[in-house]
Amino acid sequence: MAIFTPNATGALRLVGEAYPFRPGDRFLLTFDNHNSVNGIREFARARGAETTYVPSEAFNLRVDEQLLPRYLTEVGGRAPQLFAYPAQSNFSGVQHPLAWIEQAHEHGWDVLLDSAAYVPTNRLDLSQWHPDFVAISFYKMFGWPSGVGCLLARRTALAKLERPWFSGGTIVAAFVQREWYQSAPGVAHFEDGTINFLNLPAVEIGLRLLGQIGIETIHTRVEALAISLLDALGSLRQANGAPAATIYGPRDFDRRGATIAFNFLHPDERVVDERYVDRVAGQHNISLRTGCFCNPGAGEVAFTISRETLVGGEFGDAMTIDDYAEAIGLPSCGAVRASLGLASNFDDIHRFSVFVREFVDLAVVPDDLPPRTGC
Ligand SMILES: Cc1ncc(COP(=O)(O)O)c(C=O)c1O
Repeated sequence: MAIFTPNATGALRLVGEAYPFRPGDRFLLTFDNHNSVNGIREFARARGAETTYVPSEAFNLRVDEQLLPRYLTEVGGRAPQLFAYPAQSNFSGVQHPLAWIEQAHEHGWDVLLDSAAYVPTNRLDLSQWHPDFVAISFYKMFGWPSGVGCLLARRTALAKLERPWFSGGTIVAAFVQREWYQSAPGVAHFEDGTINFLNLPAVEIGLRLLGQIGIETIHTRVEALAISLLDALGSLRQANGAPAATIYGPRDFDRRGATIAFNFLHPDERVVDERYVDRVAGQHNISLRTGCFCNPGAGEVAFTISRETLVGGEFGDAMTIDDYAEAIGLPSCGAVRASLGLASNFDDIHRFSVFVREFVDLAVVPDDLPPRTGC
């Protein structure tokens, strides 16, 4: 069943706020998750359930294949329990195995698959894979409209959800004096208020466009572009021959998508502040995403930030991220991300490759960079 939402975050929130967590239940998720999945832990916590994170490996930001089965068997309690992971990381591009869905089902978990970063360039065949909930955003698939996302849910999974409220459009009837309401059946119970209905035809047009080009064609093309980009970054060298960039996540195109997170390096191996890279790229009309991409778990592993380091410093009220990073002695807490999709072409890769080669010579970073605003 498809429930239209304002964005992928809206779809994830629908699951989080209505999942029937009970005291003693478990919310299991990978370190590698967008904050809109991390945020579900707050719903779990409010209902007395416990959260467990499955770590990623430092070198390639994947999850150790031997480790996940242990978590699925050892931390489970009584059903239902929720396991959430991204089909593709929005930080590193890592594609986590879809086979985890059935493994998790075998151990009684419901599976929430965040597919926002995966579906723009990969086919998610729901006749082969059966996650209970799938979150997507249409603008990430074809650029427009920006105001419509979607939760795809299996009927049985939807029936488990307990919405904590009702609103316009989600009920058959409600009374004020009796303080009673009757939920609307199925999807209608989950679609709050008036959705952006004037944009829905754009979703249909966009899906038709993807269908005409063919998602496999998009995938193959983006793969060729990404291989070229990985090569350009991997072969960047300082004048002394040392690497001039570090890539976070897989360095080749094995089980990954076309999202590449990296940092430039100074000749002494220190990371070049990503805010400076952002500034110079802007001057070259190149728009880059910098920061930690709303995926703090992947960032903590990529930048080797331990739990002890994080708990070692209090994040005070008036603090900025930079103050905190300085207080706990972090040399760097951001990266640069290049993502490729439907609209990318070889000219983009060429321009970007020229830019990165020229950038290596501009390593003197000014001290008037703007504060980091989010993580
Ligand atoms: C993997 C992933 N999940 C969720 C989201 C949130 O999507 P939205 O901004 O459409 O709510 C994003 C956004 O970048 C994402 O990459």
